[in-house]
Amino acid sequence: MIRRYCFGRVFETDAVQKKPEAQAGALPYFSVNEEEMSLTFSMEKDDIVYGLGENVRGINKRGWMYKSKCSDQPHHHEDTQSMYAAHNFILVSGKEQFGLFIDYPGILTFDVGYTDLSVLKITASDWNLDIYVIEGENPRDIVRQFRALIGRSYIAPRWALGAGQSRWGYMNRDDVREVVRQYRSLGLPLDMVYLDIDYMERYKDFTVNEERFPDFTAFNEEMKEQNIRLIPIIDAAVKEEKGYPVYDEGIEKGYFCTDENGKPFVGAVWPGRSLFTDMLNPEARDWFGNQYKVLLDQGVEGFWNDMNEPAIFYAEDRLADSLSEIAKLAGTQQNLSIEQFREFMGLFSSLSGNPDDYRKFWHDTPQGRFRHDQVHNLYGYNMTRAAGEAFERLEPDKRILLFSRASYIGMHRYGGIWQGDNKSWWSHILLNLHMMPSLNMCGFLYTGADLGGFGCDTTEDLVLRWYALGVFTPLMRNHAAFRTREQEPYQFKDIDSFRRILQLRYCLLPYLYSEYMKAAIDGDMMFRPLSFDHPDDKRCRTIEDQLYLGNELMIAPVYEQNAAGRYVYLPERMKMLRWLGDGKFEETVLEKGDHYIEVPLGDVVFFLREGHLIPVSSGGQCEAEVDFEHVNTLSFGEGAQYEYYHDDGVSRNYEAKENRTILRA
Ligand code: NOJ
Repeated sequence: MIRRYCFGRVFETDAVQKKPEAQAGALPYFSVNEEEMSLTFSMEKDDIVYGLGENVRGINKRGWMYKSKCSDQPHHHEDTQSMYAAHNFILVSGKEQFGLFIDYPGILTFDVGYTDLSVLKITASDWNLDIYVIEGENPRDIVRQFRALIGRSYIAPRWALGAGQSRWGYMNRDDVREVVRQYRSLGLPLDMVYLDIDYMERYKDFTVNEERFPDFTAFNEEMKEQNIRLIPIIDAAVKEEKGYPVYDEGIEKGYFCTDENGKPFVGAVWPGRSLFTDMLNPEARDWFGNQYKVLLDQGVEGFWNDMNEPAIFYAEDRLADSLSEIAKLAGTQQNLSIEQFREFMGLFSSLSGNPDDYRKFWHDTPQGRFRHDQVHNLYGYNMTRAAGEAFERLEPDKRILLFSRASYIGMHRYGGIWQGDNKSWWSHILLNLHMMPSLNMCGFLYTGADLGGFGCDTTEDLVLRWYALGVFTPLMRNHAAFRTREQEPYQFKDIDSFRRILQLRYCLLPYLYSEYMKAAIDGDMMFRPLSFDHPDDKRCRTIEDQLYLGNELMIAPVYEQNAAGRYVYLPERMKMLRWLGDGKFEETVLEKGDHYIEVPLGDVVFFLREGHLIPVSSGGQCEAEVDFEHVNTLSFGEGAQYEYYHDDGVSRNYEAKENRTILRA
């Protein structure tokens, strides 16, 4: 059952597809303080608070303060409060059990036992909230109801579940060719190579640098002949440059966000002085979406939308002020006092992503003119919506790959997300795992993290261990930052292990794709905390490093350096599968309870539940080589059966009955 409560003049975010009538009574579970603009719930000792999608810390969010505020946060760690997304859904599971979605595009604070261990307090920066309370039989049922409310998740083409290689620093065609040559000659399966900002002409969206990537259409064809798709990045900010058609037309039609006086707001991002399309103006949104056609027409079939929180390196007036402050402070002297030095550093560090700059520009929406900070969390969502809606118009019969960095609930209908700029840290493997179920709750299914870590130099063991988790996530992409250590599998010594892990991905593709599609179409979760299936098992309620994948598998990756294995808790009897390569698994039946499992570097171990089976293929070098029609099965126990989802992987006829068949052991 879903009830809606409305406080204040609510901005229509379109997160929810069909709104139930607002209730007149008091909001259940919470005490409401309108003056303080807060909602408070008393937590019992054993209550779990799930949700908040992309965020730091555990699957159980208790014990920290989170802020829903889309932020460019490449240095996120335990004490970060906001990441790239704003996902205002939580699920309380304990004596009371309910889901809560706060549809509010401004900044919200979730104090989940930070100030007081037993108090959950949600504070808004403005009293304009649309609140949904969802009750159900169990957490999974609550999530299903919520997902039905917010609409079907974006569906990626099947090839997008293949492996991808990315790096900020592939500068030209030959760099890309070399990646593909290495992969193919070493027998490392691959489906996508990502193009970062360097493919553009001076960081201008929807352009291709003709010196570095001449005849882009022919290059896309050349890649497709090898079953590789190129996936270019698109940035939120549009370069200010007369003669650049996107800029000229945007200015002429008034499609950019404006300052207080109605003049286009200028901030700097990669291209230098840039403008921000008013994604909340439907006409501007359509216009921005139509720009993708220029690349679709050259054979591109997938995109990643970046910097759409939106990230602002500096606003032009702040830079001018800071420079004059610095000049005053330092003059010609080169001997600053410690106070002057701090002030000097502060002037630099407060240039980027400064909250004041987000109060300097405005959106013209059908609901009125809004200052950006009031609707901040909708920007990345609507940039991706612009693209998603355009693809429906431009390519009605074909799925286009699309995922974004910033997001809000509602965007899950138009694209997936990657989990932002992480680091080559062991703790970020675990964070990647934690976010999988939390994101699934919020409708984001096509997701994964930058494998190997984006920021800082990685190590071979870290990449191998991360792959052993990434092999299960729908988005499986190795990506790294400019000037960091090169981390394509072929840069390391143990290529055999990388090859084996990538082969496992393609062997599991029939199952992974089937689970992904069923989760999308049925509004279900692909990854679940163990407690969802074993609510009465106290151990399961505290397990933060194992997940169920579908109804069949449990995964428990190793995420600590120099570990030779790990302890795994089995809530029931399972068959442990150790991938040996060449289509073979070592199979060991393990009883319910705790087990120490040896997992040497390069191994992947996972667990099949009793009474279940999964479809597997004999693999391939790319998705096109995988036989989804004639699958083998891996099973455990008598009478196991599986509902196998299988379609052509590219068209949009998702609901056809023949897409689902029952496989028996
Ligand atoms: C930030 C993105 O998060 C990252 O993935 C990308 O490589 C850089 N921008 C450069 O485009």
